[in-house]
Amino acid sequence: MSDVKVLVKDNGPLLVTGPITVTDAAGNVFDLKGKETFALCRCGASAIRPFCDGAHKTCGFQAAERAITG
Ligand code: FES
Repeated sequence: MSDVKVLVKDNGPLLVTGPITVTDAAGNVFDLKGKETFALCRCGASAIRPFCDGAHKTCGFQAAERAITG
């Protein structure tokens, strides 16, 4: 079982918690500044992609997916 969790926030980012490395397409590692929880943008409006800067709150992004269970 992985120690990494990803919470899909309603109308917001992917909230990632756990020991994880984030790289760009060239394999360069993003500096997470020691944070074990951080948010990845999924609205596309962030000025600091791939991370969320809160822009989803004002860009009209709407998404509230639910996992299919059972
Ligand atoms: S999800 Fe927060 S800025 Fe895109």
